[in-house]
Amino acid sequence: MSQAEFVIRRPDDWHLHLRDGAMLNAVLPHTSANFARAIIMPNLVPPVVTVADATAYRERIMAALPEGHQFEPLMTLYLTEATDPADVEEGVKQGLIKALKLYPAGATTNSDSGVRVIEKIYPVLEKMAEIGVPLCVHGEVTDADIDIYDREAVFIERVLSPIRDRFPDLRIVMEHITTEDGVAFVNEAGDNIAATITTHHLIINRNAYLVGGIKPHYYCLPVAKREKHRLALRAAATSGRAKFFLGTDSAPHPTHAKESACGCAGIYTSINTISCLAHVFEEEGALDKLEAFASLNGPAFYRLPVNEETIRLYKSDAPLELPSTVAVQSETVTVFDPGFPLHWRHEDMR
Ligand code: DOR
Ligand code: ZN
Repeated sequence: MSQAEFVIRRPDDWHLHLRDGAMLNAVLPHTSANFARAIIMPNLVPPVVTVADATAYRERIMAALPEGHQFEPLMTLYLTEATDPADVEEGVKQGLIKALKLYPAGATTNSDSGVRVIEKIYPVLEKMAEIGVPLCVHGEVTDADIDIYDREAVFIERVLSPIRDRFPDLRIVMEHITTEDGVAFVNEAGDNIAATITTHHLIINRNAYLVGGIKPHYYCLPVAKREKHRLALRAAATSGRAKFFLGTDSAPHPTHAKESACGCAGIYTSINTISCLAHVFEEEGALDKLEAFASLNGPAFYRLPVNEETIRLYKSDAPLELPSTVAVQSETVTVFDPGFPLHWRHEDMR
């Protein structure tokens, strides 16, 4: 399909880091201008571990929402070895908790309180399978002897496959998949297993952060892999298959914390994701699949209604001029540079 204008239902972001305080205030307007809802990651310091924590965090998000913006934060809990199945059930019954997030301890930013011994969370997983609430998984092992480029595939083999076999009804989202192994695992699994794909993993491969100097603004976790994996992700995202949907994993860090001898993982894409995706889907001849990926498949998996509002996407000759950084008090967050000019714009249809 090649065209210069089309309308889709308003997108949602099924994996987002909003942070807290000044950072939350700075980044939330970009999400609420572009998305109707987002699954909010719970890796704050300290993490969002109880229903009470999630209730308070939701209130802070709503208080930070710009006037006139409509946005629904979909709250999650951070799974620990001490998570109480009764608290989970209560949060889901209230309609507040939409998913639980499994971080293997040490896998990524603020994951120290994550799970070390997976069997310890089996009682919670059993409860989750019973009540139908999805488990969102950061799918990388953390063993020092496993090469970082193999950590997703090894996670599938050692952790995810056993969980799937033990809890066949558990609904699982493999977050931000980065490999053809992740795509294959999800494709071959039942309807209870899906995956999110980020904007940046559709655009960059590992050369982006390693060739021509080290480029910390392309560093995220899981790290971008070889080109063949990026192509597998593109094929999955543009397939229209209900199992694959957008989760930006937009993860703001102050610029100085990324441009460091030990730079933080995270890429900030909330501000330009929709333009980047339209570019990618057009390159793949799949603009007609963008709505499924960004606006339909996610709500179907989460058993939520699709958004009634729509947006119009259109192509302009002049490239979009977006800021390269966003101010956060005296600091900045660097915006993802896709490496090509963006010509797709969008506006709300009212
Ligand atoms: O790149 C990442 N940044 N990956 C994650 O899993 C966490 C995130 C963050 O919170 O900064
Ligand atoms: Zn994330």
